[in-house]
This record gives sequence, C-alpha cells and structure tokens, in this order.
Amino acid sequence: MNEMDYRASEARYYMPAFSREIMIERGHLSKVWDADGKEYIDCVAGIAVCSTGHCHPEVTRAICEQAARLIHCSNLYYVPGQAELARKLVEITGMHKVFFSNSGAEANDGAIKLARLATGRKNFVAFTHGFHGRTLGSLSVTHKPAIREPFLPLEPSCTFVDYGDLHALEKAVDGSVAGVFVEPIQGEAGVIIPPDGFIAGIREICDRHGVLMIVDEVQTGMGRTGKWLAIHHTGIEPDIVTLAKGIASGFPMGALLAREGLEFKRSEHGSTFAGGPLACAAARATIGVIEQVLPDIPAKGKRFTNLLSAHKPRSRGLMIGFHVGNDCPAVQKKCAENGVLVNCAADGNLRLVPPLVITNDEIDQAAAVINAAIAGIGE
Ligand SMILES: Cc1ncc(COP(=O)(O)O)c(C=O)c1O
Repeated sequence: MNEMDYRASEARYYMPAFSREIMIERGHLSKVWDADGKEYIDCVAGIAVCSTGHCHPEVTRAICEQAARLIHCSNLYYVPGQAELARKLVEITGMHKVFFSNSGAEANDGAIKLARLATGRKNFVAFTHGFHGRTLGSLSVTHKPAIREPFLPLEPSCTFVDYGDLHALEKAVDGSVAGVFVEPIQGEAGVIIPPDGFIAGIREICDRHGVLMIVDEVQTGMGRTGKWLAIHHTGIEPDIVTLAKGIASGFPMGALLAREGLEFKRSEHGSTFAGGPLACAAARATIGVIEQVLPDIPAKGKRFTNLLSAHKPRSRGLMIGFHVGNDCPAVQKKCAENGVLVNCAADGNLRLVPPLVITNDEIDQAAAVINAAIAGIGE
C-alpha cells in the first residue's frame, strides 16, 4: 500500500485517538527511516521503549530464535525463559519476586491489587502531574484532568498531592490508604526531578502509617537514568516497583516487583499473555545489551546536557527535559524536518529519551539540530 492509500485507510478505519505525521518504516539502533527513505536520529525511542535501539541484532536474534521454537504456551505451564528472566530482574532491582504483565498500566493495576490484598485498605495517594497509565485502575492514580475526568467516577479512590510536598502527603495519608504511587522522576510531566529528600520522606511517611510505597519505574527504569532503577540513586527501598517500556526493547511487556513478604497467592492474579516466551526472550536479550552500555549512560547524558546547557536541562542519565514553552510543537516539527525526532511532553517541555546505545556522534548531531531549531523558532 502506498503512503497516500495508507493514510486514507487509517483515517477511515482506525479510531482517531492519536495525532501523527511521520510514517516510520524501518530502524537500526538509534536511527529510523521514513517511507521516503529520510533518515532520523531517534531521541524519542518509542517514548523510552527502544532502550537497545531499533532491531538490535542480539534482541532480534533472541526473538527470532524463540519464535521458531515456541511462541506461546500459557501460564498453565512452565514458560521457557520466564524463571531466568524473573531471577535476573530480581538480581538487578534488589526486589524479591516478580509478576509479569503486558504493559505499564497493567503492572500498575497489579500493584493496586497487591497493595489492597496486603493492607486490607482501599484508597491510594498519588502526585500532581503524575502518569501511571490509562486502564481504569491505573487511570485512577493518574493525575492529568483531561484524560481522567471523562471517566469519573474512578475506582480506587485517589487523593492527589503536589509532587515534592511532604507536608501535603503527611496530611493525605491515613488508615484508609493502601499505597502511595510515585514516579522517581516524572516523565510525561516533562522530566521533573523531585527535591532532595522527597523519596526518603515518602518512605518514612509510608512506614509510619503502614502504607505501601509503590515506585513507578515504567519510564525511568531499566538503565535509563544510569542505574537499573532511578530509585537506586536514592538508596531507598520501595515495597513495589513497576516496570515496562524499556524492559524488552519494544516487545510488549511489563512487570511488577515486590519486596519479601508481598506476593500474589494462587488465583489472586493472572494473565493469558504476560511473561510469554517471546517477551521473556526479548527482555533477557535487552538486559544483556543494557549491561554492556550501562556504565556509559552518565557520561552520555552529561555530554547531551552540556551541549544543551543554554536551555537549562533537567536530567538524569539519558532522560532529559527542558522548558521550551508554547513553541514546543514547532521545535519538534523543525527538528524532524532536520532529521531528529524529539517529543513534547506536558506543559511545553521538550523530552529526550534516546536509545541507551546512542553514540557520541549522534548526540552531537542531535544537539546541534535541537539548538538550531530553538534558535530558529525564537527569531
Ligand atoms: C511512568 C509511567 N507509568 C505508566 C505508564 C503506562 O504504561 P503503558 O503505556 O505501557 O500502559 C507510562 C506510559 O507512558 C509511564 O510513563
């Protein structure tokens, strides 16, 4: 189908929930090519998903080899590769056990269920501008009014307090609260880094009230910030961690990990597809690649932010954001015209979450295009 016919078919047959312009046809590591053969450096990476870049040979090989052997068998049986992946995730996160899902939202739904089971309480507290997903459970702890309000009333009941405000959190937490949901760095909000001591303060308040601390690392996890989890920069141990996005290089997968003593018992949770053979193969290969590049992430992040210093970037590792304002969509468009994909997150913040395998040359080229786009728009 040619590009015109494709666009017409999409308009006629696909529900218009997304707005999109570019048709990406293929990718290799940090580069993608559109239907006209135009090349881009991809600083979006499927929004922090393609951690090993596009079609990394080790990930592609693992998926293809597994696809030739067994694509699906059901969690009624031992799934090839699942226990190895569970062990690896436990080792790199420092948590105790894992349960797989197919997405970040579903991992957070699992966390809601586990927290209710463990505490016997019903309600949650989360933070303003936080994003945890769009299923009905995860949407109830997601703040953005525009995506939440059309679906009210939502269950479970959630109180939102300002990100960074421990006094407000203290007031909101009482004996009805099962868990506090927090992103260690807010991604959809535009890479917002909380004040020092915030994560430790949440831990302390949760401990005092017997409330579970649920850390959503769907965007920040799997090496993005230079450590396996962003929470590892703080030394704080959460009760539950959720992962997805970068875990399997774009093969759909999520996971919730819990500390010792917190687990689903028989029949308390389940999923047809979650933790299937292909997803586990993709995730194991992804972790192998990230292990190789993880030591370089802080220096690569620093290189990128130094080149963008005029815009006062907020960053940790290869998770970078800065305020552009109302011109953000125009900057995004200009960058794409000049061969760099970037993404506008909330409130006029430009977000850069490139593949963790991005090279220094690609960083230099991308930064030059971004700086020129902002300078050009400002004129
Ligand atoms: C922090 C965070 N949590 C949860 C989600 C939802 O993940 P998914 O889209 O895989 O359901 C996202 C997606 O952007 C996210 O950034």
